[in-house]
Amino acid sequence: MQRLSGVFNRTRRPWIDANGASPDEILDVVRRCPSGALHIDRHDGGQAESIPTENVGVLWADGPIQLTGDLHIIAAGVDVEGETRVTLCRCGQSKHKPFCDNSHKDIHFVAEERPRPDAKPLTERTGRLTVIAEKCGPLQLNGPLELYGSDGSLQYAGNETWLCRCGGSGNKPFCDDTHLRNGFAAD
Ligand code: FES
Repeated sequence: MQRLSGVFNRTRRPWIDANGASPDEILDVVRRCPSGALHIDRHDGGQAESIPTENVGVLWADGPIQLTGDLHIIAAGVDVEGETRVTLCRCGQSKHKPFCDNSHKDIHFVAEERPRPDAKPLTERTGRLTVIAEKCGPLQLNGPLELYGSDGSLQYAGNETWLCRCGGSGNKPFCDDTHLRNGFAAD
């Protein structure tokens, strides 16, 4: 966190000092946090972070899937409504599943992408996206979503799909049931 070092300083405990900048400056930085680990709860009457009206996914090259929108995340021990930003593990090795913890870098995860010429943009984009991390299985996504590859190409647009999170699919980003054969474990 290099911006607003008066607020975010990892050498300090606690490492966040909300008095180190104005609420608007802090909100500007928090909005850029792709993982959703940072949120702001304003008490000054100012504008809080708004929920995006459209759901968009981006596949990071050889990394996680980043989702922004009106998100409901469901996994073992996790049930979060109204989330706006999240990065979810695709390599299968995160110790904090379903969230990315950068383990993909340690294992040199490779997630090849292929053109998806049949993917067409949605005509109706509004609505909540529910993401269910199935036990020892894929991410089930219900709700409108446009998903883009790391090169910006449209990979998927629709209202229901299953994305691989075991890292083994031969048809990434989609699940192809490889998780049933490679011993993927995720409670
Ligand atoms: S979760 Fe990876 S193939 Fe199904």
